[in-house]
Amino acid sequence: MGSSNPLFSIFLTVLAVFLLNADVGSCGCFKRMFTFGDSLTDAGNFAYSGRKNNPPGPPSVPPYGKTYFHHPTGRASDGRLIVDFYAQALGLPLLPPSLPDEKTSQFPTGANFALFGATALNPNFFKRYNFGVPFPWSLDDQLASFKKVLARIAPGDAATKSVLSESLIVFGEIGGNDYNFWFFGGNGDDTDTPQKYMPDVIARIGDGVQEVIKLGAKTVLVPGNFPIGCVPAYLSGNKSNKSADYDQFHCLKRFNKFSQMHNQLLKQEVEKLKSLNADVKIIYADYYGAFMELVKNPSMNGIDDPLVACCGGNGPYGTGHGCNQTARVCSDPSRFASWDQIHMTEKAYNIIANGVLNGPYADTPLLHVC
Ligand SMILES: *[C@@H]1O[C@H](CO)[C@@H](O)[C@H](O)[C@H]1NC(C)=O
Ligand SMILES: *[C@@H]1O[C@H](CO)[C@@H](O)[C@H](O)[C@H]1NC(C)=O
Ligand SMILES: *[C@@H]1O[C@H](CO)[C@@H](O)[C@H](O)[C@H]1NC(C)=O
Repeated sequence: MGSSNPLFSIFLTVLAVFLLNADVGSCGCFKRMFTFGDSLTDAGNFAYSGRKNNPPGPPSVPPYGKTYFHHPTGRASDGRLIVDFYAQALGLPLLPPSLPDEKTSQFPTGANFALFGATALNPNFFKRYNFGVPFPWSLDDQLASFKKVLARIAPGDAATKSVLSESLIVFGEIGGNDYNFWFFGGNGDDTDTPQKYMPDVIARIGDGVQEVIKLGAKTVLVPGNFPIGCVPAYLSGNKSNKSADYDQFHCLKRFNKFSQMHNQLLKQEVEKLKSLNADVKIIYADYYGAFMELVKNPSMNGIDDPLVACCGGNGPYGTGHGCNQTARVCSDPSRFASWDQIHMTEKAYNIIANGVLNGPYADTPLLHVC
C-alpha cells in the first residue's frame, strides 16, 4: 500500500487538520464565553462606570494589575482573574468588559457582564432586614444588559439560541456580597440573619441560571463561594481570643461553616436545575475546595502565609491599610494568596482555575466538557 494510497493521504490530511485544531486552545469547543458575577469576575466594568460617576478608587488605581498587565485594568487583583484563565485555556482572548461597548460591539468571543460589588438579590430586598447594600446594581442588571446585547447581536429566538448553544456561560461567583455587606456593616456577630435570606440568594441564582438556559445556553458553570473565614478582612475584623473559634488552619470556623451552608444549598439547586434541563451541561465549580487547597498546603503552591494580604499594611493579616497607591505592597505577589485582604492574587486565581479546568474542583472538569 504505502503512502501512494489516496485513502492513506486523506487519512494523514485529516489527522494533520485534527492535530492543528487540537493545538488551537486545548478545547476550541466554545465560540464565546459570557460571564456574570461580582468583583471576583469584573474585568473593568466598575472602573468604566467609576470613570463616569465617581472618583477613581480601587480597583482602578495602582498597584492593581501590576503583575500581569503592568497597569490597573479594573480587575480586583494584581493580574488575571479566574475567568481570564478559563478564556486562555479554552483558546479565547480575555473577555472584554461589557459596559464600555454594550451598545456597539458584536462581542465575537463573548463578554464579561460582572460588576464589582454586585449582589445576587436586588438591593431593595435587603430593606426588610433594615440594611442597605452600598451599590445599586445586582444580577438583575447584568441579565437585563445581557438580553439587550443578545437582541442586538443575534436578534430573534433562533439566532439567540444558536449563539448561546456555542457559548460557555460562567454564572458567578455571585451571592458572596449579599453576605459580605451584612458582615462588613459591623454585623460579624450575627450569622443568623443572613442565614435567613440564604435560600433567597440561592433561589435568585437558580432563577438566573434557568433564565440563561431558557434563552438557549447549553453549558453553564455555577461556582460556589469561598471560605470567607480564611479571608484577611474577616480574620482581622472578627478576631477572637477563643482558640475554639479557629480551625486547624487558623481560619474562623463560624464563617467557613456559613460559606459551606451556602455551597451545600447551591449544589442542591444545581442538581434541581440538572433534572429540569436534561439537555444542558450544568457544572458546579467548587471554589471553596480549590481555595482550601492553598490554605492547607501553602508551601506546595509556593505560598508563604495564605492568610496575609500582599497589598495593605501592618497587623497579623496585613490589613492595617487599604490597598491603594500608599499601601505597602509585597515584593512577590506570587508568594501570596490574598491580594488586597478581600480579593485574591493572580497566583491563587490561577490555581483555582486549574482545579476547575482539569479537576478535581468541578463535577465535570471544564476541559472535559468538550
Ligand atoms: C467583622 O469583620 C468585618 C470585615 O472586616 C468588619 O466590617 C466587622 O465590623 C467585623 N466585626 C464585627 C463584630 O462585625
Ligand atoms: C476575651 O474577649 C472577651 C470579649 O471581648 C473579654 O470579655 C475577655 O476578657 C477576653 N479574655 C481574655 C482572656 O482576653
Ligand atoms: C489609601 O487608603 C488609606 C486607608 O487605608 C486612605 O487613608 C488613603 O486616603 C488612601 N489613599 C488614596 C490616594 O486613596
